[in-house]
Amino acid sequence: MNAPASVKNARLKEWVASMAALCKPDTVHWCDGSKAEYDRLMAEMVASGMAIKLNEQKRPNSFLFRSDPKDVARVEDRTYICSRRKQDAGPTNNWVDPREMQDKLNKLFDGTMKGRPMYVIPFSMGPIGSSISHIGIEITDSPYVVVNMHIMTRVGAAVLDALGEDGEFVPCMHSVGKPLSHGEKDVHWPCNEEKYITHFPEERAIWSYGSGYGGNALLGKKCFALRIASVMARDEGWLAEHMLILGVESKDGEKTYVGAAFPSACGKTNFAMLIPPAGLSDYKITTVGDDIAWIKPGRDGKLYAINPEAGFFGVAPGTSYDSNPNAMESIKRDTIFTNVALTEDGDVWWEGMTKSPPARLTDWQGNAWTPDGGHVSSHPNSRFTAPLGNCPCADPAYEDPNGVPIGAFIFGGRRSTTVPLVMQGYNWNYGVYMAATMGSETTAAATGAVGKVRRDPFAMLPFIGYHMADYWNHWLDMGRKIHNPPRIFSVNWFRKDADGKFLWPGFGENMRILKWIVEKVHGRAYSEESPLGWVPTYADIDWTGLDFSEEKFNELMSVDRTQWEAEILSHEELFIKLYDELPKEFVLKRQLILSQLWRAPEHWEPTHVDAP
Ligand code: GTP
Ligand code: SPV
Ligand code: MN
Repeated sequence: MNAPASVKNARLKEWVASMAALCKPDTVHWCDGSKAEYDRLMAEMVASGMAIKLNEQKRPNSFLFRSDPKDVARVEDRTYICSRRKQDAGPTNNWVDPREMQDKLNKLFDGTMKGRPMYVIPFSMGPIGSSISHIGIEITDSPYVVVNMHIMTRVGAAVLDALGEDGEFVPCMHSVGKPLSHGEKDVHWPCNEEKYITHFPEERAIWSYGSGYGGNALLGKKCFALRIASVMARDEGWLAEHMLILGVESKDGEKTYVGAAFPSACGKTNFAMLIPPAGLSDYKITTVGDDIAWIKPGRDGKLYAINPEAGFFGVAPGTSYDSNPNAMESIKRDTIFTNVALTEDGDVWWEGMTKSPPARLTDWQGNAWTPDGGHVSSHPNSRFTAPLGNCPCADPAYEDPNGVPIGAFIFGGRRSTTVPLVMQGYNWNYGVYMAATMGSETTAAATGAVGKVRRDPFAMLPFIGYHMADYWNHWLDMGRKIHNPPRIFSVNWFRKDADGKFLWPGFGENMRILKWIVEKVHGRAYSEESPLGWVPTYADIDWTGLDFSEEKFNELMSVDRTQWEAEILSHEELFIKLYDELPKEFVLKRQLILSQLWRAPEHWEPTHVDAP
């Protein structure tokens, strides 16, 4: 049970020993991040029935897992920010007094690993040694978590070296909450009906109990890289964001990096790996990250971003060679699939992967499935875990410890009405207002109702580790500190017509909008003033190779006063909820937007401009 000689950090040794004493596992295993370790754990899980090895010819080195049907997504109502003062967690987070929560957790974790091994995972979020990176140690009783962490983070001895004798780490405690009595046979997906995903922001500690799935259990991701890191970022003057990072390379080699925040299952992975349509093949998109960005001001006053992760934990349904060829290439091998369907020849399938489904499948719960059965074969939040290095469009800078300079921020929700295709905020403060008041229809990425519009500021509603309005103040403050801050844009790929059809083709065609954004960043594109921000007219978008009418574009860009009155009332509702920390700028901005809406026609559309 003793720590290996390579562990020099006294605090780490002490913490692991005390957690082992609490959880009472059979054995303690210190993970070294090696391929041999990965292979051994996978072989054990295949033998126990927890994992299915996929056909080696069709999907080399890849595995399928099926979770308990009650453990399929993040549980926002069981997620807590246990700051010392309730006010610091703010009204958008669940809060319990930290002493009360710690008492509860001590009871839950007492003996929770009986009959199981305890794994200690030293991991780095970000390239090891980068000044933007941080180290965490996850303790878990789930071998599924270990293999996923191998892909999603940098695990192993180099992390312990970087930690040294007195380096800092975020302790991440995890248990599926299913101890085994002597001789008891394990289930294929152990978990507990009672779940707690808890964060102690002052101590910078995480305790997660009862779930083995995704962001509930891979604690480097949402728990550390967003909830705890957002607190570190506020205190230290940087940003931890739910953002993809992509590079846009033009044919003369100019490279522009953008960070884009869309809520869960709203298109980050797709946008991060976009392939420009034939008409815009002068451009190339490269991927630095698809979910999380850590952004720090550099000595030159610019903002530099790293992707703290090393892999993709992507939504499977809808991913196809039509919608996202780069994702399909990334998951060709070395991939862990969770809750997708199994084909008869030992490969995977999900809704939307091919135009017509296979005649027979085994569904995500292990039952025989045919297309006429009336239910989906894969869970809507089924996922793939794949190494970033597998991605054909990975940007070489994803391993650069210095990060990449950010030229623009893009914010986008899933809105079937009201919100235009693209807008640029008039300035930093205005952009921060747009991001803060963003709404989005809920998706299967979290348990609960799907398709309801809710405010999701900065796509961070489920991920902010402190008071939401305090976070807005932090963003306003960052704008004051950096020189010539990035331009801020809002997009909505999801607006629908009266028949409920998407107005915008999306996916690769989003390049047309991204091109306008990049050209705006460099001061080379035109725009006009709308009631809500700078916008392109039809003539400002490159339509090469796409037959898309001005009428349809104007419908996508239109601003309807009645719809926006309702929208602005919902901004006000959010502001009242957060009133104690609300930036005063926001109250004034809201008034300005109202007056702009009343100066414009009731149904505003971009001006028609004749081609030169
Ligand atoms: P998380 O990993 O949960 O944070 O989500 P994500 O933002 O990376 O989600 P992802 O890119 O996997 O989004 C998946 C969903 O968005 C699928 O239902 C896609 O079909 C849909 N989607 C992505 N891009 C577009 C687009 O441009 N237009 C439309 N209409 N749908 C899109
Ligand atoms: C999200 O829900 O935004 C995800 C998936 O990226 S999870 O890691 O499960 O949070
Ligand atoms: Mn996400």
